[in-house]
Amino acid sequence: MKGIVMNILADMVEQQFGMSEWNEILSEIDAAGAYTAAVLYEDQELLDLVGVISRRQSIPVEDLIFAFGEFMFPAFYERYPELIDAEAHLLPLLASIDSVIHVEVNKLYPGAVTPVFEEEWRSDSALLLKYRSKRNLCRLAEGLISGAAKHFDTTYELEHEPCLHRGADHCGLLVTLR
Ligand code: HEM
Repeated sequence: MKGIVMNILADMVEQQFGMSEWNEILSEIDAAGAYTAAVLYEDQELLDLVGVISRRQSIPVEDLIFAFGEFMFPAFYERYPELIDAEAHLLPLLASIDSVIHVEVNKLYPGAVTPVFEEEWRSDSALLLKYRSKRNLCRLAEGLISGAAKHFDTTYELEHEPCLHRGADHCGLLVTLR
């Protein structure tokens, strides 16, 4: 994972639990602590950080990853507003992750490993995203979708079927506007 992801995790922990808590978390996994946005770190390091936060704060890992995704969307918006302002509504924005947003991310952060999102319009108000990644971070995707919906002040329902965690070859994330 690129250091920018760790930077945003640090911001979330510092805002919610304080700077000293983040330093304690870093010392538990013997991390150097100063993550550089463009450097690629081992995925395991992020998972170790999440595991320590989950234990110390008694938040189930899957809930924590979702909350991290929700926090991440406005954090990306602060850094790259033009990528998100290109679309005025939730579903077209989600439909542009693979073909626009993550393409730009890969230019900004050469060597980034972004997931694959294949989109399938079911109707004007329903979009199926097929998520594929060896990282199996579908809860992060769900949190990012929730963050994006808040950004556009939109309510939606999500059906998550099938799921990589249950042996499927992709996660189906069907987003239907309410
Ligand atoms: C709702 C919209 C979005 C969704 C659902 C989404 C989903 C994801 C997911 C699930 C990952 C984790 C990697 C993996 O699963 O393999 C990821 C990585 C990433 N995404 Fe997105 N993303 C969204 C929007 C954005 C935006 C707006 C930006 C920045 C402008 C962005 C930048 C990144 C970056 C930098 C990474 C890390 C890549 C790496 O560390 O190598 N994403 N995205």
